Amino acid sequence: MKKQLTLGIVGATGVVGQSVLELLKTHKFKFSIKQLKLYASQNSIGKVIQFYDQSITLESPNIASLAKCDVVIFASDAAISRKFIPDLAKKNIVCIDKSSAFRSDPQVPLVVPEVNGSILFTNNNISSYIVASPNCIVIPLAIVANVVKDILGLKTLIVSTYQSVSGTGSGAVDILLKESKEFLNAQDLTCAKSVVYPKSIAFNVIPFVESLDKEGHTGEEKKIKDETKKVLGDSFLSLDVTSVRVPTFVGHAMSVVCETKTKYEKEKILAALKQQKAIKVSTPTNFMTPREVHGKNEVFVSRIRASEAFSGGLSFWIACDNLRKGAALNALQIVEYILTKRTKNG
Ligand SMILES: NC(=O)c1ccc[n+]([C@@H]2O[C@H](COP(=O)([O-])OP(=O)(O)OC[C@H]3O[C@@H](n4cnc5c(N)ncnc54)[C@H](OP(=O)(O)O)[C@@H]3O)[C@@H](O)[C@H]2O)c1
Repeated sequence: MKKQLTLGIVGATGVVGQSVLELLKTHKFKFSIKQLKLYASQNSIGKVIQFYDQSITLESPNIASLAKCDVVIFASDAAISRKFIPDLAKKNIVCIDKSSAFRSDPQVPLVVPEVNGSILFTNNNISSYIVASPNCIVIPLAIVANVVKDILGLKTLIVSTYQSVSGTGSGAVDILLKESKEFLNAQDLTCAKSVVYPKSIAFNVIPFVESLDKEGHTGEEKKIKDETKKVLGDSFLSLDVTSVRVPTFVGHAMSVVCETKTKYEKEKILAALKQQKAIKVSTPTNFMTPREVHGKNEVFVSRIRASEAFSGGLSFWIACDNLRKGAALNALQIVEYILTKRTKNG
């Protein structure tokens, strides 16, 4: 029997929150919703969201209301997660955090169910009521890198990302639309000095995602390195990452070069990748682009070939909907994993 739960979504009006709601309507999970409770900022209080025949009024997050949920997905600012999650976790309410607030906390599991879902339980008991969901590049990268690690052993990952503006939230989607219209109408780009991006994004690419440190690495690059190691459980993995924002709306892509412990064997890798439900492999003459993966749940791998930089290694291209498996779907699959295992254990 399906587990019925009261689910809270903080940040229900954002691009990730909206993707969670869309998935709840369109995807079959091994749980069903008894009640949905939706939260957003003061700007949205009182607005109504329709979920099947229910009209749900948006609330401002508060402990009394959140504590009525079995599970809460946090898809707003890290500050909001820090404010509410510790108290809810003490009340044994499962909190799945999409923000970066707890990802580097050694006590908090950082989970991609297909890769390391088993860490959610210790001796058949839930290991932590706070569960962090990784960065939207890390989730697809870890799923594919984990297969390479199992088959060939992994020494180094060199990653260059092509990240869509929805990765920055709904405000950035509006900015790309506005700048694009201005550019095509030969007008000055009023958004060029936006607080979201340091330079104009329309018809441009920006090799800067988040702040720069003194050594010249960005915050996003640091997150990708640290979180990939944590999810793969390999603190010795060597990673070099360049994060780039590109003027696409939804769908992140990346080029990945792997140095492996043993020689690349094409048939072995292809067979192992194809076995994974979460992965779709393109034929050698085809490849997937961000626009084509928008609205799809899988991680798409194409352009798989031997690397010429390493004696053992391979290169490939990944494209994935950053709002689906990169965010909302991963969070809901964490919920599913926990509920399925709990039901099995009675
Ligand atoms: N976008 C992605 O690809 C992606 C991927 C992985 C993780 N994440 C993470 O997921 C989180 C949400 O990102 P997003 O892209 O969905 O952002 P977004 O589109 O900007 O949405 C932000 C959401 O948070 C709400 N919010 C803001 N301040 C709040 C407050 N004080 N109290 C309650 N709710 C508040 C907003 O409500 P209003 O509409 O009322 O302002 C909105 O629902 C972020 O932590 C982000 O880092 C995003």
